[in-house]
Amino acid sequence: MHITELRTPAVLVDVNKVRSNITRMQAAATANGVRLRPHAKTHKSPVIARWQIEQGAVGVCCQKLGEAEVLAAAGIEDIRLPYPVSPTNADRVVRLLDRTRLSLIVDHPLVARGWSDAMHAAGRTLDVLVKVDVGYHRCGIDPALPDAGAFVAQVGTLPGLRLTGLLSHAGHAYQAQSDEELRAIAAAEARLLHQVAHAARAHGATIEEISVGATPPARFSVREKGITELRPGNYVYFDRMQVGLGSATLGDCALTVLATVVTKHLDRVIFDCGSKTLAMDQARGASQPGHGLVFSGLDTVAPDDNLRIEQLSEEHAKVRVLNGSTRLEPGDRVRVLPNHACVVSNLVNEIALVEGDQVIDRLAVAARGMIT
Ligand SMILES: Cc1ncc(COP(=O)(O)O)c(C=O)c1O
Repeated sequence: MHITELRTPAVLVDVNKVRSNITRMQAAATANGVRLRPHAKTHKSPVIARWQIEQGAVGVCCQKLGEAEVLAAAGIEDIRLPYPVSPTNADRVVRLLDRTRLSLIVDHPLVARGWSDAMHAAGRTLDVLVKVDVGYHRCGIDPALPDAGAFVAQVGTLPGLRLTGLLSHAGHAYQAQSDEELRAIAAAEARLLHQVAHAARAHGATIEEISVGATPPARFSVREKGITELRPGNYVYFDRMQVGLGSATLGDCALTVLATVVTKHLDRVIFDCGSKTLAMDQARGASQPGHGLVFSGLDTVAPDDNLRIEQLSEEHAKVRVLNGSTRLEPGDRVRVLPNHACVVSNLVNEIALVEGDQVIDRLAVAARGMIT
């Protein structure tokens, strides 16, 4: 079936690009002796998680327990939650431990104590890593605090918990302006993690794992000494933001939105993909503003620089025709590269798997909306 036979808006995922993105990241990890544990929040699909594991990934990450429940039910056997899950969910974690190897993070004494009490009471042992704030200032212990190492070691003594190591997410890398900046972020992240690991070991802790994860600095992090695990998520699809950050080329981007031109006026055309399809994320790092990049053909080779997605309402994309005229007419199909693929895949029940312009299968986004 040709993609133009699909109802729109439709989310298309090019299978060959996904497979080569998976292979390339796995090869980089393997060549550097680093375990790859992709973040499944991007695809939310046990099928794609399985492709990653078949290529050598040790397991996957999920952000939320709801995602982990879907993946575990589908047979994914090793899941890590690098998210500060609340111990109020202990019953769900105990059930998940019956199905899969599960680990999560802690970065606060009360939360660590909560998990310890719950696991001890349930007679279970939960693997935990301490999250370290390496500059994003979202979650994680402050590595500069004099008691950072002592806190990690303390977690290692709590009943019901098994401390396996340290984990970080350099989300601030999304603001980097250059490769040099990304390289420096990756180096600083590794240095801070080693510093905390050293202090924790001095307090008697056993630190086996040093886990980092974000797509933009991944190509630099993978070469940092002492890193044991890489957890990129977005790399499986890539998007306009990653192209802007130098993590990918346009040709690597696997996820696109197929839309229809629904009307046309003097200086603008309207596509049927609004914020409920493309999402409102901006493309940090992109050279031009806009809610995605419009391709000039259905083949996703070259952008149409004459079109800018200027504004989204829920179901409309208002597309400015910059030089005053476009060949597009109502009824025409267009392909759009979203700014941020992870949020787009969470907005649809299923994606169309494509090879070029042919639809070869449909795939449910099985953990879509599983945000608890
Ligand atoms: C804790 C954590 N680890 C890993 C990732 C994966 O990062 P990316 O989407 O840049 O690949 C994320 C993304 O938000 C995250 O929050």
